[in-house]
Amino acid sequence: MHISIITCLPRLLESPFNDSILKRAQTKGLVSVDIIDLREYATGKHKPVDDYAFGGGAGMVLMIEPIDKCITDLKSKRHYDEIIYMSPDGELFTQSVANELSLKKNLILLCGHYKGVDERVREHLVTREISIGDYVLSGGELAAAVVADAVIRLIPGVLSDETSALSDSFQDGLVAPPVYTRPAEYKDWKVPEILLSGHQARIEEWKHEQSLERTHKRRPNLLK
Ligand code: ADE
Repeated sequence: MHISIITCLPRLLESPFNDSILKRAQTKGLVSVDIIDLREYATGKHKPVDDYAFGGGAGMVLMIEPIDKCITDLKSKRHYDEIIYMSPDGELFTQSVANELSLKKNLILLCGHYKGVDERVREHLVTREISIGDYVLSGGELAAAVVADAVIRLIPGVLSDETSALSDSFQDGLVAPPVYTRPAEYKDWKVPEILLSGHQARIEEWKHEQSLERTHKRRPNLLK
């Protein structure tokens, strides 16, 4: 998979892709990530990427021309399955959207900033809009990192134990059961007896019950 992230603040995205699982996924050649500085596609002495909104109003708007040039350039190099604009009013990002995107080959994530992008970008250039939740971030960069992380960890081979993504919360429509590690007793707080019993079938049954109970208590909407 290849992910191109278009941003006017590339430094914001340096660290998430240079550590831990996301870094390893790239080193292993399972995914490549390009952070593209929108300013490289700007023209004029000061290379502006934003301008005042027609009709007035507070805040700057990202201009269509550098975004169009950037997307056209990227599309000349590879076919993209989706061109996704990160936006608080987009489709809500869920595990099922992450699963769907993990099956794609190439993705563009476009990060908005300031007051957003010229509406014509949304009308003519992007194929999809995604929000990571009902709150407004200063820009799409952190949202793009969230989407890329959730998608990349689902690519086969990225997690060392492939079943560990399958046992994540939401993957089966339930939240994950509790987990414990050593020591089996700390102060007088004990790990549930069943987990120390060695009866794998009964342990699995217990985990499933815990998942159901937790989903009921914490996220009943998932059971509807
Ligand atoms: N840009 C600003 N806020 C956002 C959000 N909640 N989701 C995606 N992109 C955003």
